[in-house]
Amino acid sequence: MNEIHSPGKQQNGLEEIRVRPYRITDAEKVRSLFTASLVGEYHSPYAREMRAQLVAPISWATYATIGIGLLLRFRSSTERIRRAGVLLSGTSTLIFALHRLLFRYGLQKVVRQQLDGDLADIAKHYGVEISSDEGWNTARSGFWVAERLAMGLKPEAIGYVGLDDSTDPDPKVAELRRMIVSARYRRRGIALQLIRVLIQHARKNSVERIFLRTSSYQIEAMKMYEHYGWVPRGKEDVSFLFQSIYMHSFLLQAEGWDL
Ligand SMILES: CC(C)(COP(=O)(O)OP(=O)(O)OC[C@H]1O[C@@H](n2cnc3c(N)ncnc32)[C@H](O)[C@@H]1OP(=O)(O)O)[C@@H](O)C(=O)NCCC(=O)NCCS
Repeated sequence: MNEIHSPGKQQNGLEEIRVRPYRITDAEKVRSLFTASLVGEYHSPYAREMRAQLVAPISWATYATIGIGLLLRFRSSTERIRRAGVLLSGTSTLIFALHRLLFRYGLQKVVRQQLDGDLADIAKHYGVEISSDEGWNTARSGFWVAERLAMGLKPEAIGYVGLDDSTDPDPKVAELRRMIVSARYRRRGIALQLIRVLIQHARKNSVERIFLRTSSYQIEAMKMYEHYGWVPRGKEDVSFLFQSIYMHSFLLQAEGWDL
């Protein structure tokens, strides 16, 4: 049987969380959780950035120019100044809206690239052998899904993680990718269950070091990786549209990891 019972399974009486290899039927859920985590949910980079922009110094300057423009429009007795007021507030509003739209467009482009990349054919990219309704992680790479089993309900995929050995030429090194837990099920140790299974698999395949990259927006993820033993290895500036954005790298020695 392909299900991983230990250490990837947790019980609380009413429900169980088990970690098992990816199946073809997970594809849609994996993609929708991925999209939500980047542009959909409250803590997504997009929502965080939109909220931050509203109170950024540059936005206050924009609000001021919109206000000045409106004052000129409605308080001036000179037609030329009234027109200048309309132009000032109109242009400022347009730039403000455009900036927000461009950010969304940029992020959606990133999401599309990822969905068309390793997430387009997960079984192929992560070396999962698939039968009609099962999966087997037979390669050094692998992909796992955390599934919630509750009495009387259909099993629900609520998180996942991948181990990718194609992004580093050293056979002793692999990358942890696509770690996501559905927002409703966070802070219950589900990420830990996924990580345990991933590390077990990595060790079995002589992978000694597991690296990962995450963005400065993913604050919870960075806290989690450090909590579980990953060590920060620097950051790369990937700033976009005047927003300071960094990609942070982390490394874990899989040998000796114990949680
Ligand atoms: C990061 C993520 C996978 C964590 O999943 P999770 O199942 O909630 O993680 P765990 O319950 O195992 O949390 C373990 C530890 O991480 C840290 N942590 C996780 N979420 C945190 C938060 N919101 N604030 C502070 N610390 C947090 C804590 O140290 C926590 O331990 P504690 O609950 O005992 O304090 C989840 O928040 C997520 O899917 N985020 C969105 C997607 C994402 O950013 N993925 C990473 C891409 S690289």
